[in-house]
Amino acid sequence: MKKVITYGTFDLLHQGHLNLLRRAKALGDELIVGVTNDNFDRERGKLNVRNNVLERVEAVKATGLADKIIIEDYVGQKIDDIQRYGVDIFAIGSDWEGKFDYLKEYCQVVYLPRTEGISSTMLRNQDKDIFEIGIVGTGRIAARFVPEAAFVDSVKVTSVYNPNASEADNFGERFSLEAFSGDFGEFLKGLDAIYIASPHLTHYEYAKEALHRGKHVLCEIPLTLDRGQAEELYGYAKEHSLILLEASKTAFCPAFNHIVTLIKSGVIGDVVDVQASISKMVEPPCRELDRDMAGGAVNEHASLTLLPAIKILGTDFTDLSFHSKVIDGVDVYTKVIVNYPFATASATLGIGVKTEGNLVISGTGGYVYVPAPWWLTSFFEVRYEDQRKNKKFFYSYEGDGLRYEIQEFVSMIMNGRTSSYKLSRKESCAIAGIIEKFNARQFYTELI
Ligand code: CTP
Repeated sequence: MKKVITYGTFDLLHQGHLNLLRRAKALGDELIVGVTNDNFDRERGKLNVRNNVLERVEAVKATGLADKIIIEDYVGQKIDDIQRYGVDIFAIGSDWEGKFDYLKEYCQVVYLPRTEGISSTMLRNQDKDIFEIGIVGTGRIAARFVPEAAFVDSVKVTSVYNPNASEADNFGERFSLEAFSGDFGEFLKGLDAIYIASPHLTHYEYAKEALHRGKHVLCEIPLTLDRGQAEELYGYAKEHSLILLEASKTAFCPAFNHIVTLIKSGVIGDVVDVQASISKMVEPPCRELDRDMAGGAVNEHASLTLLPAIKILGTDFTDLSFHSKVIDGVDVYTKVIVNYPFATASATLGIGVKTEGNLVISGTGGYVYVPAPWWLTSFFEVRYEDQRKNKKFFYSYEGDGLRYEIQEFVSMIMNGRTSSYKLSRKESCAIAGIIEKFNARQFYTELI
């Protein structure tokens, strides 16, 4: 009895997969097929897989060729599986030639001929358009967006807008984009969507104009500094079946999503406290310290720092307070306390005060610890009184991490999904509301 094992994503199952499975099956008596799980694919940089793991498993099952189907979750699992199932032959397509020779220590490795002219990537590209995105703004974050967008299928950054012509031209030249500086409407023509990465106070007007011209909008944080404006924009987008997404990058990062789902499934009991902080020192002169450009720690960092509290404890908080250290009219440090009937949360923000940028979520059964910089989540630990039960989780936070939000944005456009569970309209509006209250100096004390 010869056992054969093969692995794959098997997205949009096609003739190449069928041929491969047939050839693998013919090598022995029993065929085990490992199908990658969704997170594992995302971690390996496969962000565009169409079918979810259940659909892919069903498709492999429907071929009738697999005697057993298993899920591939982690790097190194192939060695475990080969030993656990007593596998004789590991088979894979010839596009992997040589890559799995390390398995020869455990079983025979066979590279099977690959079927020419078909692949999941090809099929994914066939039945969809390429969405053209224009960038508004030419700062640091805009410069990160262009290379990150290259990791996502179906989008192409084509143009850039900055009212300052020389900045638009420089950026355009640097990234080979068409540059616009005068007429914003002219820039919007021909685009499917825009990414707004301009100064905070310009977000609302740009987003509004783009939506009114039928464009989807991905907007940097903070979407707006005013809850009413955020609600108006989301309302308009929903009514007109347009996508508006706040680019709160951590919300879309796989490790952060895993923290939220773990906590929601009760691994630390009832959550009683969420403490998050971000501090990034800045040097004058800069926008962050400019009062007239909505500078300050809250306007700069509250969107990300409040995210864990809002995702985990919800939007129905009962009271708020702000405690700030102010220099030249700008808060260089603010602690925001958000109280719920059942829990409390704090966000500590600094642009002129340095503090540890970690995240601690405490519950009746244990706590989750995410070391600084927690907002680029790549590692976290679930900790208990009995330390033997502690569990560490490792992820890779790829590149500048913007690819995750871009992928979500594109997937929303393609599937006509006007809200994302990773950052819902309600959550985004609640955060805008907190920022608004701070700027109105409500519930506010100043440290002197
Ligand atoms: N395969 C094949 N012939 C093809 C496509 C895939 O023999 N034309 C094989 C691969 O070599 C692998 C298995 O099918 O052994 C699963 O591959 P998978 O990565 O799921 O398929 P692709 O179509 O290559 O997917 P993608 O385009 O996403 O890389």
